[in-house]
Amino acid sequence: MSKELQIGVIGAGGRGGIAQLAHSPDDGVRLTAGADTDLSALEKFRQKMGSDVYTTSDYREILAKPEIDAVFITTPDFLHEEHAIAALEAGKAVYLEKPMAITIEGCDRILEAAARLKGKLYLGHNMRHFPMVLKMKELISKGAIGKPMVGWCRHFVCYGGDAYFKDWHAERAKSTGLLLQKAAHDIDILHWLMGGYTTRVTAMGALTLYDRITDRHDPAERGDASWHNENWPPLSQVGLNPVIDVEDVSMMLMRLDNGTHASYQQCHYAPDGWRNYTIIGEAGRIENFGDLPGESVVRLWDKKVLYKAEGDAEFPIPEVEGTHGGADPSIVAEFIAYVRGEAKPTTSPIGARFSVAAGVKATESIRDNSNPKDVPPAPAEARDWFDRETAHG
Ligand SMILES: NC(=O)c1ccc[n+]([C@@H]2O[C@H](COP(=O)([O-])OP(=O)(O)OC[C@H]3O[C@@H](n4cnc5c(N)ncnc54)[C@H](O)[C@@H]3O)[C@@H](O)[C@H]2O)c1
Repeated sequence: MSKELQIGVIGAGGRGGIAQLAHSPDDGVRLTAGADTDLSALEKFRQKMGSDVYTTSDYREILAKPEIDAVFITTPDFLHEEHAIAALEAGKAVYLEKPMAITIEGCDRILEAAARLKGKLYLGHNMRHFPMVLKMKELISKGAIGKPMVGWCRHFVCYGGDAYFKDWHAERAKSTGLLLQKAAHDIDILHWLMGGYTTRVTAMGALTLYDRITDRHDPAERGDASWHNENWPPLSQVGLNPVIDVEDVSMMLMRLDNGTHASYQQCHYAPDGWRNYTIIGEAGRIENFGDLPGESVVRLWDKKVLYKAEGDAEFPIPEVEGTHGGADPSIVAEFIAYVRGEAKPTTSPIGARFSVAAGVKATESIRDNSNPKDVPPAPAEARDWFDRETAHG
């Protein structure tokens, strides 16, 4: 067996749970340290991992430990840049949650640090491991629709009021906007399926509903961002964040560097919660209905017809185990294999950067009367480094 890996997690509560999927002593991987500024999150982490686990409220103590090979960074978005650069500088392999950072400059500083230090940087874009997305990618790669030309994504977010308007997510200063926080996933998938990166965007959107709710929690409190189906209709939500200045409806149009086009639409008070993608190629179209394994299907149309609901072929997405439709265990396994030098990632730091960059520029467009915005190129040295490091550049 290869050398035992020791890993740590920065942001042990909340999404930090994903690091626990890596803990597998029989396979030579141990999660031995966790940092969190919330002492109750650290206590839960200790209860789960056992009293031997090292815990601290200062993440730098974990980075200073020479025996730690890799860290998961699962802190809020506005801390990713600081934590990722510090971890790369400490020589750790890094699993960094999406969105990469909350500014384009922040992403580029992380990329430059990784390229300069020849560091292992892995981005937690787990949607690249969603079975439904993988089926679409496979159909496109096999030529089922010819060359993809147009990609659309509609995103219904039934848990918007629960998850994004009760804590830091609701503040521009901490998230920039929900086109990064949520759409970073989907912009990345559109780029991946279409085979290019956005160069120009225009967008429209606004804060249309949650600002009307006057029940807000105290600024000193954190806010309860847990999801409850009883929190319905959206205007009945209580305990919202004192500051809400991000949009709850956003619609963006993208032109990609390979001449293709895409669009993404997001609403945070839909009654249902899923993503609907359609990709139109030179010789056909695919679309997903539902997005969870065991209860979704991808349909293909490759003959001319006015309307045929069932399509010309149907690909049910089989049931799989694990959170986020099986994507979490799959992405963690890929990260560990990457750290060991056994696999090249299918997720991409350059792709992650372009999803943030398109989201940032679309947000600027929304806030500037829908004026179109150009997306700046990524640093060349970083593109060279990750062309070699990842499966897709
Ligand atoms: N890929 C996915 O499917 C997915 C799902 C959920 C969240 N996320 C991402 O994970 C990240 C965390 O999201 P969350 O909802 O868990 O956020 P959160 O607000 O619950 O924070 C996560 C943890 O980080 C801790 N923390 C905050 N500041 C810290 C600091 N300075 N040092 C150490 N720990 C600190 C918090 O106390 C908390 O326990 C976000 O970037 C989010 O986008 C990704």
